[in-house]
Amino acid sequence: MATERTLSIIKPDATRRNLTGKINAMLEDAGLRIVAQRRMQLTTAQAQAFYAVHAERPFYNDLVSFMISGPVVVQVLEGADAVAKNRNVMGATNPADAAEGTIRKAFAESIEANSVHGSDSAENAANEIAFFFAGTDIVG
Ligand code: CMP
Repeated sequence: MATERTLSIIKPDATRRNLTGKINAMLEDAGLRIVAQRRMQLTTAQAQAFYAVHAERPFYNDLVSFMISGPVVVQVLEGADAVAKNRNVMGATNPADAAEGTIRKAFAESIEANSVHGSDSAENAANEIAFFFAGTDIVG
């Protein structure tokens, strides 16, 4: 298993309910290290650009509105197989399908307000990390 890095976002539904610490504990308990982290307010342009791959999807405009509705916490997670490990602890996109013990099962409100984002491949992780962080921001 290669040591990898992946991008995680704690979304506005979770920051609104003061869940950053509880989510971070679940990430750490899953064997991931938080090697960079920043709380920030996304602009419309940033949210649109980050989710540009979904621009043609019917939920895109609502998703952008949701992602700017409050602060997010962007973070870089590091560990063995970090991309897959993070997706396992996040759970399914739709909380109705998320397994027991996952972040989305515990906290997500809906398929849109689903508390966390995680990169879905090592290639996307590299691009998503670079979207938010300079190399010098990441301290492994
Ligand atoms: P995320 O993993 O950040 O990737 C795209 C996001 O779009 C997803 O989590 C949800 O927050 C949101 N979304 C809203 N509706 C849907 C849908 N029908 N299918 C997938 N993602 C959706």
